[in-house]
Amino acid sequence: MKMIILQFLFFSIFTHQTTTMENNIFEKVDEYIGNLFGDHDASLEATERSLAEAGMPHISISPNQGKFLHILALLCGAKRVLELGTLAGYSTIWLARALPKDGKVITLEVDSKHANVAKKNIENAGLKDKVEIRVGKALEILPTLDGPFDMIFIDADKPPYTEYFEWALKLSRPGTLIIADNVIRDGKVLDDNSKDEMVKGAQRFNRFLAKTKGITATIIQTVGIKEYDGMAIARVNETE
Ligand code: SAH
Ligand code: DHB
Ligand code: MG
Repeated sequence: MKMIILQFLFFSIFTHQTTTMENNIFEKVDEYIGNLFGDHDASLEATERSLAEAGMPHISISPNQGKFLHILALLCGAKRVLELGTLAGYSTIWLARALPKDGKVITLEVDSKHANVAKKNIENAGLKDKVEIRVGKALEILPTLDGPFDMIFIDADKPPYTEYFEWALKLSRPGTLIIADNVIRDGKVLDDNSKDEMVKGAQRFNRFLAKTKGITATIIQTVGIKEYDGMAIARVNETE
């Protein structure tokens, strides 16, 4: 019992610190970076606004995370990108904008309302020809897809992240970049006794990622205007 109380205290103090004290400076610096580069245009802003208008959760990646994924897609020379979890298409737009004329993002979304909002936002951004939204459960659509993809962004529901990653590997080639959002969850992944299914999904995925052979991987912590979290980054190795 004492242990449980101590653990509770530890995590309360821990989350308190990360959500109040430090986040303030991280938020301000995140905004500073965004303002400095100023590449958040009207289509991206309209996409963010569409979340509130449609009563959808505000869980898109942040502007600077979008730019980061955009740069990663450019670095990969990506032509074919796969995304799991479309929401309003915010990350989709950042990814699609990094592709050549004949490039394609295939994005999977289980909620048809989300998919419809995303479709409008993507059209509004002039990216209709570069994005294909597939509506359904990711685990049902994945077996129907033809690989390889150059880059894969995993950002759907958290409990099956390990299974999503196994599919991502099947749909990869040497050099494919696989990114998974939300794998640190405000530091809650440190709690081995967590009952939170999203945290458990991230913990299981992180362990699986670390022991997967044939990839080069790490996790970077993400701070800023969103809650403290992390993104896993894995590159599929060349075969010997
Ligand atoms: N990538 C988006 C945010 C995605 S939020 C962005 O950054 O802009 C997660 C999305 O995954 C939600 O829209 C949710 O409906 C969807 N989702 C949840 N479970 C899913 C499943 N089993 N298959 C496909 N999509 C799913
Ligand atoms: C949640 C999902 C996300 O993809 C995210 O970036 C933040 C939060 C969530 O379901 O809580
Ligand atoms: Mg996310």
